[in-house]
Amino acid sequence: MGNYRIAVIPGDGIGPEIVGQTLRVLDQIADTYGHHFEYKELLAGGCAIDATGEPLPEETVAECRKSDAVLLGAVGGAKWDHLPGEKRPEMALLGLRGQLGLYANLRPAYLYKQLQAACPLKPEIIGESIDLLVVRELTGGIYFGPRGRRATAERGEEAFDTEVYSEAEVERIARVAFEIARGRQRRVTNVDKANVLESSRLWRAVVTRVAADYPDVELNHMYVDNAAMQLVRNPKQFDVIVTTNMFGDILSDEASMITGSIGMLPSASLGQGNFGLYEPVHGSAPDLAGQDRANPLATILSAAMMLRYSFGLAQEAEAITSAVEQVLAAGYRTGDIMSPGQTLVGTAQMGQLVCDYIAKGD
Ligand code: NAD
Ligand code: IPM
Ligand code: MN
Repeated sequence: MGNYRIAVIPGDGIGPEIVGQTLRVLDQIADTYGHHFEYKELLAGGCAIDATGEPLPEETVAECRKSDAVLLGAVGGAKWDHLPGEKRPEMALLGLRGQLGLYANLRPAYLYKQLQAACPLKPEIIGESIDLLVVRELTGGIYFGPRGRRATAERGEEAFDTEVYSEAEVERIARVAFEIARGRQRRVTNVDKANVLESSRLWRAVVTRVAADYPDVELNHMYVDNAAMQLVRNPKQFDVIVTTNMFGDILSDEASMITGSIGMLPSASLGQGNFGLYEPVHGSAPDLAGQDRANPLATILSAAMMLRYSFGLAQEAEAITSAVEQVLAAGYRTGDIMSPGQTLVGTAQMGQLVCDYIAKGD
């Protein structure tokens, strides 16, 4: 059937372990559905600094461009924390997102009903389930403003970063949010800090203007501090949240606890066309690295998003999410989502279980 070329960037910390299990799952999908996935393993992050002196070697970007999609684990760790900003592992992520034009970051916080006990919210707040989507602008804002730097001023050293948004940047991410909302509950919450920041006032004005093209979608606005509180008080009020690069980063980690653990939250980073980069929302979890303890499901579910968004393989994507659901229903848990009476498994066994359930089918 289909032939797909996937750039694979394991990265640092738990990255290689969670990506390793995800490739097993993709191999199982290839087997079951008769596809061929060709993997090209590439360096980025701390391991790339160790091997080449650069967090994002040119070859990595070039190979990503030649691929149909990118699967990434995580980058970073204490070993590289002393390096100057431009040379840090995290620059690899920003470089990939920026150079590949991946401006729309989808972070779906979905609570599988089997994981209700892992979610710290009360049952009456959770209800049946929670299903919200953070649409984070990914190639602008304070992450990409005129380069932050330090300068020696009269009162000693100073440092600054700058948030810049153009109308065009806001418009395109707003359209992504409204389009997606049409396939969901048709509600968009715009999150900004328009009571303080000029960039947020422009942001809000543009989102409001774009909303006029989507009269079937309900729009409301919320300041980011209130949104952080509302996510815990009443997460069910949200369907699609659209927000800036920085606010989206912070709110999506908060939203991850709705799913039970940051180890459950996948993401897709998209631009024009079908190409995309897929990675878990969490980082390299140095505290778990090399111990077979990390939850690989966020990365496995990111691969499901890859099948859906970049390859148009909805049935195969569904096979992964349904296998995950069945593994959870059978009581298997990594440490981060463990609750009494369930069976504790490691990273590799979790990957194997997902493969087994895909092979079994429904
Ligand atoms: P982190 O997400 O790596 O870890 C935060 C906490 O969540 C830790 O307690 C960790 O054990 C836990 N956790 C994370 N992923 C998990 C998983 N799959 N299963 C179970 N538990 C998991 O965030 P941090 O500690 O702030 O950052 C560590 C490093 O990762 C830093 O260098 C940071 O810059 C980097 N980082 C990278 C990315 C990325 O590559 N996309 C994202 C965030 C942070
Ligand atoms: C994320 C991460 C990155 C971000 C860092 C590591 C650059 O936290 O993907 O959420 O802030 O975007
Ligand atoms: Mn983050």
